[in-house]
Amino acid sequence: MRIILCGFGVVGQSLVKLFASRSDELYSKYAVKPRVVGVFDSKGSAVDQSGLKLDKLIKVKKRFGTVKNYAVKNNSMSGIEMLKNLEADVLIETTASNYKDAEPGMTHITTAMKNGMHVISVNKGPLALAFPSLLELATYNQVMFKFSGTVGGGTPILDYAKNSLSGERITSFAGILNGTTNYILTNMASGLSFDSALKDAQDKGYVEADESLDLDGLDAAAKLVILANWIMGMKVTLPDIDCTGIRKVTSKEIRSASKKNCAIKLIASCDKKLVVGPKEISNDDPLCVNGTLNAIAFTSEHSGTQTIIGKGAGGMETASSILRDLLDIRQEIARD
Ligand SMILES: NC(=O)c1ccc[n+]([C@@H]2O[C@H](COP(=O)([O-])OP(=O)(O)OC[C@H]3O[C@@H](n4cnc5c(N)ncnc54)[C@H](OP(=O)(O)O)[C@@H]3O)[C@@H](O)[C@H]2O)c1
Repeated sequence: MRIILCGFGVVGQSLVKLFASRSDELYSKYAVKPRVVGVFDSKGSAVDQSGLKLDKLIKVKKRFGTVKNYAVKNNSMSGIEMLKNLEADVLIETTASNYKDAEPGMTHITTAMKNGMHVISVNKGPLALAFPSLLELATYNQVMFKFSGTVGGGTPILDYAKNSLSGERITSFAGILNGTTNYILTNMASGLSFDSALKDAQDKGYVEADESLDLDGLDAAAKLVILANWIMGMKVTLPDIDCTGIRKVTSKEIRSASKKNCAIKLIASCDKKLVVGPKEISNDDPLCVNGTLNAIAFTSEHSGTQTIIGKGAGGMETASSILRDLLDIRQEIARD
């Protein structure tokens, strides 16, 4: 499969390493041979229609900070030119999530779809702001649109609700969908102040460059939009979420919850209304996970409530979700 990869940061590079380490198995087990024909980052691009050398891409990015130096004579093709002119089957979109106008991911995704490419996105911005119209655009252009890694990183939350519970009617769900705020609240429960817990999370590299995406609940709200559209069939976008972050949670409130065998968690829930906000939950609730873990509980008509727990982020974990999506696309093409 010919692949264009846009964004070559933590997730993009993890994916290329995963392709390199699993290439024999992917071919023998799934008859898939990923061929990365183009990559671009914010500074430039690398192109080879016969397939870029994966280890060289990583080395070049590490040495020069961009893939532009892959060829001796630097490639001058822009990302958009690549999406319009380079023959490829799948676009993998891994640029940073932006909840103001969803760019540059939105233009990458729509251009690829209009040019007949299937799209895998781990970038939540375009889905948070335009999920219904992106699905329509994919259908109109008869391409597949996959986004497993946008919720739960490598933990297959979307696949579980969509496939393992197929035939069931999910009536509500609630989850801890942002590992960073969970880490901060967990440390506050151990006695740290908000500022110290935030500093610790920043030192460990858990907090987004724009801390508001985590602290004000935007990241969790974006994931709630994706779940509500995909699992519940709603047609909603980010402004439809009633969203409050964790900045106003005090140590006193956390201590008082603890006395009742409860913890305060940032919960994203869909039950009549779509809400993200701090909520007291029992320590005995399976949802009450600590540290950077994510958890989500789906309640359905006949199967009761089931909770999935897993790591919500991480380069390799998210890359593995992209691989899952790629194998799905391969299988659906083979079935057709
Ligand atoms: N990291 C995780 O655990 C995780 C988990 C789930 C979902 N995600 C999502 O996955 C996406 C990627 O995350 P990440 O951790 O890999 O981020 P990252 O390390 O910051 O990488 C982002 C990449 O996007 C590139 N980029 C920025 N603007 C661009 C533009 N205009 N054109 C082309 N490329 C551009 C950057 O280029 P430069 O290299 O030149 O700066 C960089 O390579 C994000 O949307 C994130 O929300 C991440």
